[in-house]
Amino acid sequence: SSVMLALFLLLSCWASIVESRVSFATSEVIDDVDLKGSNLASFRCYAGCRVYSPTQNKDIIMKNNNGNEFGSLADLADLTPGKVYELPESADLYWLSNKGAPDPSFVFYAVEKGAMNYDSKVLYLTQAKDWNITHSTDTKLTIMSTTGAIYFSNFLGDYSNAVPTVYAVGADSISSPDRCIPVYKPISASTIPQTSFPVNSPIATINFNGVGSDQVVLLSANPYKTTATGKDVTAVYVSPGYVGCNNGDDSLYTHLPLTTGFGSSITATDSSGLKVVIDGHYSIANEADALTVSVNGDGKKLYGKNGDYSKTYDDVTSVKVDVNWAKKEGSKDRFALQIDVISNGGVQATTTKDNLMTTTSASSLGMLAAIIMTTLALC
Ligand SMILES: *[C@@H]1O[C@H](CO)[C@@H](O)[C@H](O)[C@H]1NC(C)=O
Repeated sequence: SSVMLALFLLLSCWASIVESRVSFATSEVIDDVDLKGSNLASFRCYAGCRVYSPTQNKDIIMKNNNGNEFGSLADLADLTPGKVYELPESADLYWLSNKGAPDPSFVFYAVEKGAMNYDSKVLYLTQAKDWNITHSTDTKLTIMSTTGAIYFSNFLGDYSNAVPTVYAVGADSISSPDRCIPVYKPISASTIPQTSFPVNSPIATINFNGVGSDQVVLLSANPYKTTATGKDVTAVYVSPGYVGCNNGDDSLYTHLPLTTGFGSSITATDSSGLKVVIDGHYSIANEADALTVSVNGDGKKLYGKNGDYSKTYDDVTSVKVDVNWAKKEGSKDRFALQIDVISNGGVQATTTKDNLMTTTSASSLGMLAAIIMTTLALC
């Protein structure tokens, strides 16, 4: 009946406002949007879970469905590095309850017991302190940032046996079933020392992918950094809130710096020749909001749902690459783009590229999108 339909739409409206957290197979990331206009946000912890937050907020507390209260986000932020906070298993949902000022800015990560990389460490990054992380202590490290930005730079050490990858998700989600793809995956070890880039996300994971102990990477929460560009450099562009998983969830993170676009120009010359390798994944609704990439005047507009773009330019002696994108307010447009400019004298590409962002079950996703669009239009 129309009453049932109205009720359904009302519940859907409510759900679209409250249930917008970023969900993975074994974890959830809850941030600004989830306590916006609401004092409660639920999270899954059926098997028990470890909970993390870098946010100094005593007024957001965890509680179970019976109203039993646990610690606050500040209690999590204050934990000695290496110590973990574990909540007991529960057949019901847990809740974050905000008893302070409305619409707080925060980030919270709950990972369920038994998840892959459950024992991986989580580092809290604030603007007050940069960190040198070393591979010898952490093969995989998840980072959470109070500014919503995580800047990777100063890659030191020997990467000839294994190159590091960086993801915009927690360590539990870097392999199947979420099928999250990296935002940074070097195609040549020769570019790593010159490469630095921000991930505009409150959570990221670096996977060093192999043995070795002399690798060091500098991390900063500085929200104003841009990617390095040039010869033998990998330029990395990650749109604000990008998650990068092919699990049908198109949610974005909302605890972010003020980045609203990219306008970047890469130039390089080398008389012995250069190679330009472009690899991008994107979901951009409208042509007018396309991400544009142009190499020596050869321009490409990237837009559409779950698109991949790979292109290589070989043996050019002079390169000018322009990257432009401006975020459309309120859109769910998102992308990750990696551009390698490698001199012929540099180490040749050794690894193959992931192409996991292919469209699956397009029809059911299309149907879901239609329902969501209808609901949003009616809300
Ligand atoms: C990180 O390591 C570099 C190189 O050893 C050093 O110059 C820098 O001061 C270190 N920074 C921090 C925050 O430890």
